[in-house]
Amino acid sequence: SQTLPLAGKVVTITAGPTREALDPVRYISNHSSGKMGFALAEAALSAGATVHLIAGPVQLQAPEGVTHYGVQSAEQMLEQSLALVAQTDIFIAAAAVADYRMAEVAEQKMKKAQGETDLVLRLVQNPDIVATIARHPERPFTVGFAAETQAVEAYAADKLQRKNLDMIIANDVSRTDIGFNSDQNAVTVLWRSHNGVQRHQPEQASKQALASQLINCIVEQFEA
Ligand code: C5P
Repeated sequence: SQTLPLAGKVVTITAGPTREALDPVRYISNHSSGKMGFALAEAALSAGATVHLIAGPVQLQAPEGVTHYGVQSAEQMLEQSLALVAQTDIFIAAAAVADYRMAEVAEQKMKKAQGETDLVLRLVQNPDIVATIARHPERPFTVGFAAETQAVEAYAADKLQRKNLDMIIANDVSRTDIGFNSDQNAVTVLWRSHNGVQRHQPEQASKQALASQLINCIVEQFEA
């Protein structure tokens, strides 16, 4: 019998948006659907891996057989990622993490100020989850995503180096027919090798079909 390429391997995936509280009833977030991360979880499972899926609030059901960790904030997503890092062989960061959170979350619902038209919120930067994992002493093979609107490959290559990633999956979010909330995606995969940055461009496909192509690509470099 043929053994699956990721048999005995642990894959941890972040997915969806994060949600950063302003007060007990309000938050900052984004439009990430989580579809790409969930499709990758399914594809990694099909490739024989044990799969951990750390997801922000999404309208999706985790595939049966995948361990799902529901989180809200970037800090919670980082905490769960760190809890799994030592057992993880491949870490894939597909989450759209909020770059900022409130410096101080209001304990009570914020009131609209009378006679004041402007409100200033003080935000602080969130930790970079994938960069933290990629610099961890027990770092797994680490894969990130880069959603760009211009100079897609140049910015992705820069992110690959700056975040110390093994591989980055770049997509052009200026195109409204693909990416973010769409069911289709077209990407370029970049990775570091002894001969510099290598690239591969899978055919544009549904997020499901693309996910299995990406898992194949990840397996190839993980083994290399
Ligand atoms: O820097 P940028 O947000 O464009 O990088 C995108 C990549 O970094 C994605 O893989 C995303 O999941 C990851 N990321 C993260 N933690 C953050 C910001 C981004 O893991 N705070």
